[in-house]
Order: sequence, then C-alpha cells, then structure tokens
Amino acid sequence: MADSSKFRLNGSEVAVTSAADTPLLYVLSDELKLQGPRFGCGLAQCGSCSVLVDGVELRSCVTPLSAVAGKTVTTLEGLPALHAASKGLAKVPEYTPLQQALIDTQAIQCGFCTNGIQIKATELLSKNPAPSEQDIRTAMNGHLCRCGTYPKIIAAIQQAARSMGGKA
Ligand code: FES
Ligand code: FES
Repeated sequence: MADSSKFRLNGSEVAVTSAADTPLLYVLSDELKLQGPRFGCGLAQCGSCSVLVDGVELRSCVTPLSAVAGKTVTTLEGLPALHAASKGLAKVPEYTPLQQALIDTQAIQCGFCTNGIQIKATELLSKNPAPSEQDIRTAMNGHLCRCGTYPKIIAAIQQAARSMGGKA
C-alpha cells in the first residue's frame, strides 16, 4: 500500500506516493524524474546520490522517504535558485559560482561524481565561506571521483569561495 508523503523540493511542495521506506533516491529519480542525484554504490560510500536536506548533505540512496517528510530537499537542479535566495539575487543564474568554477577548472570529466561534489561543496561553503585547503579535503573526503580530478575539484571550490567573497 503506497503512502502519501509531502516535502519541499527545490522550492516547491511535492506529494509523492512511493512507500515510506523507499530510498529517497528512487523517489527523486523514478517518481519525480530528476536526473541530478545518481546511483553509484547504493551503500552511502561514494556520494553520487547526495542531496541537501534542510541544508545538510545526506546520501539519498540510504535515506528513506519517511525521513524527509515535511523537510526541505535540494537537489542539483535546485542549486542555482538556492544560491540566488542565499545571496538575495533578483534573478536565478544559469550556473552558481561553484558550477562555473567546476567548468573553468575542467573538474568535470565523466561527470558521474559531480552531483555529489556540488551538493557537498555547497554545504561546505554555506557554513564556511573561506575554507582552507585542508577544510576542503576534509569535507570532500567521502566523495569518490573515479576520474581522479581531486586537485581540480579543490581548485574549483577555492575559486568559488573567492568569487563569493571568501578568501580560500
Ligand atoms: S549511491 Fe549513495 S553514496 Fe553511493
Ligand atoms: S569526473 Fe568522473 S567520477 Fe568524477
């Protein structure tokens, strides 16, 4: 028997009918047809499925739908609007400073990890606008990139921090 759960997704209220114990990743991808969160390991080990729940990164592959009832979920698709809201911008940009930095540094190769990288880095920069390299390494430690672009990911996060007024 399907349950009905409501939560806020990328600025809009949504009601879904997946069972309460369905992994949030499946709800986002199968029921809501979002392509940002990706299935990698399914074991909370790689970070490719990450989303923000009330501003905190969670692995959606191991988070049941019931855990986000009434909460605010932000996926990759919602990051530009989240950035605009946090900075009081009148217009939602095409790319966030972080996304632009990932493009500039060519940190996106196959792109499979990039969803989780952006979610985690967004969380980091919201809490720590001027992270040190070690802060970035520590924050990103649980995000695996099979293409090995870690130095470029660090450079991108530093560029994004600088462009948003931090001094990383
Ligand atoms: S798919 Fe969720 S952490 Fe790997
Ligand atoms: S860019 Fe390919 S896994 Fe990170």
